[in-house]
Amino acid sequence: MRSIALLTSGGDGPGLNACIRAVTRQALKHRAEVHGVRWGYRGLVNGDFSQLSSRDVGGIMGRGGTMLGTARCPEFKDVKVRRTAIRNLNQRGVEGLVVIGGNGSLTGAFELHEMGFPTYGIPASIDNDVFGTDMSVGVDTTLNTILDAIDRIKDTATSHQRAFMIEVMGRDSGYLALASGLAGGAEVILVPEREGPDVEKIGDIVVEAYVRGKHHCIMVIAEGWKPGTQAVEDYLRSHRDDLGFDVRVTVLGHVQRGGRPSAFDRLLGTRMGAFASDRLLEGESGTMVALRGNKLESLPLAEAVAEQRPLDLRLLELADMMD
Ligand code: ADP
Ligand code: F6P
Repeated sequence: MRSIALLTSGGDGPGLNACIRAVTRQALKHRAEVHGVRWGYRGLVNGDFSQLSSRDVGGIMGRGGTMLGTARCPEFKDVKVRRTAIRNLNQRGVEGLVVIGGNGSLTGAFELHEMGFPTYGIPASIDNDVFGTDMSVGVDTTLNTILDAIDRIKDTATSHQRAFMIEVMGRDSGYLALASGLAGGAEVILVPEREGPDVEKIGDIVVEAYVRGKHHCIMVIAEGWKPGTQAVEDYLRSHRDDLGFDVRVTVLGHVQRGGRPSAFDRLLGTRMGAFASDRLLEGESGTMVALRGNKLESLPLAEAVAEQRPLDLRLLELADMMD
C-alpha cells in the first residue's frame, strides 16, 4: 500500500493527537502518502481531506482534542453514503484508512471493510467500553481529571460536612464512575451495569456514613445510571433533616474530555498509531489494535464491535468493601 488516510470520529478525548502523529510519521517513514480527513466520516463523504507532512503533525502531542476535528455523522450508516466515501478515497488514490474512535466509529470501519475498502481501527473512547482491549486511548487522562475533581470536592465536602454527588460521563458504561470512585474513595458508586440501589437505600448509606463519624459522603454516578442523579438528589433533599449531611451536586460534563494527555495516553496513542500504520500498510484489514497486558495485538473488528466491553463487577465488590 502506498497511500493511506486517517480520521478521528465520535467523541473526542485526550491522546488522539498522539495517534495522528504516530500513524502519519510511521507511514511516511515507509514512504507512503498520508491524507488527513477533517471532521470524521463527514469529511470522508464531503471529500474534505488533504495530504499531511511530518511537520503538519509536529507539536500536537501535548494538546487535547484532535487536530483533524471529529464529528458524529449518522448518515454514514446508510450504504449509499458509504459508497460516496469510498469513491472519494478511490479518486484520490487512497488504498487504506485508519479510523480512530469508539464503538460507533469502529463499526463504520468494519462496514467499509465489508464493502471491500481496507480499514484498520484504533480504539479511542474515554468510556473504556471498546471490547477486546484493556484500555482505549483517552481513558487514563480522563480518569485523572475526574480524580482531581473528586479530591478537590472532598476537601470542601469535609470542611462543610456535606454529601456530594458527582456525575461523570458514561452514557452506557460505568467504567469511569467505577474506576474513579474506587481510586477516589467514594462511599457510593452507581453504574448502569448494576441495578440499584434504590434511593431509600442510598439515603441509608448517607446516614450510616454520618453515624460512623465520617465528615463527608462522596457519591460517584455514571450519567447512564437509572433512575439518574436528579432522582437521588430530590430524595436526599427532601430528607435533608434526617440525613446529617447537606447535599450538593456537581456534574463534571465535558471538562472530562479535554486537557493535556497523560504520559500513559501519549505512549499508548503513539504505540497504537505506529502499530496500526504498519498493519494497514502490510495489507491487513478489518482489524483493530488492542492492548492486552502490555502487548499490542490485532483483533478482528467483527469481534470488537459485536459487544461492549463488560465492566469488571469484582471491582465494584472491592469498592463496597472499602467504604
Ligand atoms: P463513538 O465512535 O465514540 O462510539 P458514535 O457511536 O457516536 O461515537 O459513532 C461515531 C460515528 O460512527 C457515527 O456518527 C457514525 O458516523 C459512525 N457509525 C456509528 N455506527 C455506525 C454503523 N452502524 N455503521 C456505520 N457507521 C457508523
Ligand atoms: O462516548 C463518549 C461520551 O463521552 C459519553 O460518555 C457521553 O455520554 C458522550 O460522549 C457525550 O457526547 P456529546 O459530546 O455528544 O455530548
